[in-house]
Amino acid sequence: MKITKATELKQKPDFTKLSFGKIFTDHMITMEYDESKGGWAEPEIVPYGRFDINPASCVLHYGQGIFEGLKAYKNAEGRITMFRPTDNFKRMNKSATRLCMPTFDIDVVVDALKQLVLLEQDWIPTAVGTSLYIRPFMIGNEDFLGVHPSKKYIFSIILSPVGSYYSGGLTPTKIMIEDQLTRASNGGTGEAKCSGNYAASLLGAEKAKKLGYDQVLWLDAAEKKYVEEVGAMNIFFVIDGTVVTPMLDGSILAGITRNSALQILRKNGYKVEERHVSVKEILEAGKNGKLEEAFGTGTAAVISPVGVIAYKGKEVVINENKMGKITEYLYDQITGIQTERYNDEFGWVVGVK
Ligand code: PLP
Ligand code: COI
Repeated sequence: MKITKATELKQKPDFTKLSFGKIFTDHMITMEYDESKGGWAEPEIVPYGRFDINPASCVLHYGQGIFEGLKAYKNAEGRITMFRPTDNFKRMNKSATRLCMPTFDIDVVVDALKQLVLLEQDWIPTAVGTSLYIRPFMIGNEDFLGVHPSKKYIFSIILSPVGSYYSGGLTPTKIMIEDQLTRASNGGTGEAKCSGNYAASLLGAEKAKKLGYDQVLWLDAAEKKYVEEVGAMNIFFVIDGTVVTPMLDGSILAGITRNSALQILRKNGYKVEERHVSVKEILEAGKNGKLEEAFGTGTAAVISPVGVIAYKGKEVVINENKMGKITEYLYDQITGIQTERYNDEFGWVVGVK
């Protein structure tokens, strides 16, 4: 693989004061697709820098853009690993297909990513709760104004040393159920990790923020009856001893952390259900003292306790606004596997070095 090194390296940040996604490393991957040249060219590592994009580039107008999020870690012995990278690129190829974008060879991309992470290994923070966030993305980049799939694309991967996604770390978050706006609907792109889904979620998220909430819990588009997912994470509830999460029905992202949490819970004998979860059920469980815990799962969010859920101006406080036992257990298990404190019996951890 062609590697062009940066002539000047950036100063590393204070790794004890990392927030989420504001600092970028010295290098990135780019790989270009041109239908007229037979498809994908080889990936390259180049200095982190700007793209030269024409104002008529179709992504700027019609939003053919998809992305992924995964993390790399350096364990106590200095071994560098990534968590389930192949699953992210499989999902990215599914997103690509939904948006009429070209799929790519996963092995080629994982191999290139390993080389990038190795080159940037001094950027991997090691304190508890920190990691190197990996952001692969792909955009349509042909210059035209008609509406049709692009014949040219840029695939890229950038890296960012990160701390907690939420500024409060593991302090339980407050989420608001949005009963007017819709993020995704049946047959739409909810299941794809595409830029437009996030644009569609911003107004609701701003509304929630103004009312003092951290994020929105979205409902199904058709009936506004069933909970789906939060802006940047899947949602779980513990109701009367059973762990319940909305089933994947096409409008929810099939979260890799969600899947990891389900596998860990099932393997360890917890009662788990993937099914429709109505707002009514949550509110009633809250009233009857049976809503024992709520938490979100996501690469950026990891396992994130939810302390308050609001619906139409009324709040349900969960577990006295404290992190619950199952939430804590899962946080410990997942971060333990990711950082190799615990044995990886699932085969999720991929060594970079
Ligand atoms: N749902 C949405 C909308 C997300 O943006 C994310 C984050 O990636 C998730 C769920 C969680 O997915 P994962 O666990 O694969 O990061
Ligand atoms: C991730 O968890 O990787 C995400 O993509 C969430 C993001 C929108 C910050």
